[in-house]
Amino acid sequence: MNVVMPETLNKATRGENLLREDILSLLSLGKEEDSLLFKLADQVRYQYVGDEVHLRGIIEFSNYCVKNCLYCGLRRDNQKLDRYRLSESEIIKTGNQAAKLGLKTIVLQSGEDPFYTGEMLAQIIARLKAETGVAVTVSVGDRSKKDYRLMKQAGADRYLLKHETTDANLFSRLRPGTTFAGRIKRLYWLKELGFQVGAGNMVGLPGQTCETLADDILLLRELDVEMAGIGPFIPHHQTPLKNCVGGEVKTTLKVLAITRLVLPLTHLPATTALASIHPQGRQMALQCGANVVMPNVTPVKYRERYQIYPNKICLTEETTESVANISNIIRQLGRGVAQDYGHSPKYKEGCE
Ligand code: 5AD
Ligand code: SF4
Repeated sequence: MNVVMPETLNKATRGENLLREDILSLLSLGKEEDSLLFKLADQVRYQYVGDEVHLRGIIEFSNYCVKNCLYCGLRRDNQKLDRYRLSESEIIKTGNQAAKLGLKTIVLQSGEDPFYTGEMLAQIIARLKAETGVAVTVSVGDRSKKDYRLMKQAGADRYLLKHETTDANLFSRLRPGTTFAGRIKRLYWLKELGFQVGAGNMVGLPGQTCETLADDILLLRELDVEMAGIGPFIPHHQTPLKNCVGGEVKTTLKVLAITRLVLPLTHLPATTALASIHPQGRQMALQCGANVVMPNVTPVKYRERYQIYPNKICLTEETTESVANISNIIRQLGRGVAQDYGHSPKYKEGCE
């Protein structure tokens, strides 16, 4: 079938700035036109960030959380969850193993767990950097500016704090006791402190509209993020949202593809959440604008307990295997695994 290129896609092809109404029109493209959007996002990805895919090894070092987000399996009120914490030496050991497999970035992720003070996190970051030579991304949620500063001074390169949704009412309903304004304030602190910043949102949250998704993309542009994590919402049986409908694969891919058009230089992961709801999720995302994959390098015995959403993939696979599998997927797509640190292409490589 001959599909006519919609005017908005022509506009994107010419490299023109997309307006809110353009993003809305791309979000509501028909089935045949979607494939044109995906193709264009893939071309823009190639043109701006190349064919190489960056691997970031995630260590989920604590599943304790003081927050009670309605969508998340780690929420405070989930008493069915067996909680765990990795010690500093376990974290360093895990980081060392990941570095030996060739991973150049370690992401330290946890629930919001005040057990780890800013000073403790700073020490872990400094040791990881000194002992393994990796780049470090931190993702431990809302903290004080002082804590963020300590982490930056200890050598952390990046911070991942997803904005989750730009709808301020929805945000405070889904994240009791917190506000969208508080989240944005922190994202600006992180920028000011010199982190490469990652934000991002879930797709398919109950009450979310196309307008909200367009605003999510526009917010990413306004923040000029170095990374954006975009994944589907997946209902978890031990949360208040257990009976909600989850996010769709297609909509998630569309948001990802439009984000690539709007932010051509941003790192976009093929999220584990997407791969968990579709067996080809990673491959599809990598062909719709994504250029990052985040293999789980958490010691296998803890993985089952870090189910922020159900049916998370790679729960039993040894780290060596996951990294090999992911590298194969990348090669099968005719792409390569990047060997550098994968700092934001907005900065020059090699200035660790
Ligand atoms: N489905 C999908 N993603 C989720 N997250 C938390 N709960 C869910 C869920 N049920 C995401 C949030 C958070 C990250 C750690 O995981 O975006 O930032
Ligand atoms: Fe805690 Fe983050 Fe889950 Fe919210 S989304 S309950 S802050 S781990």
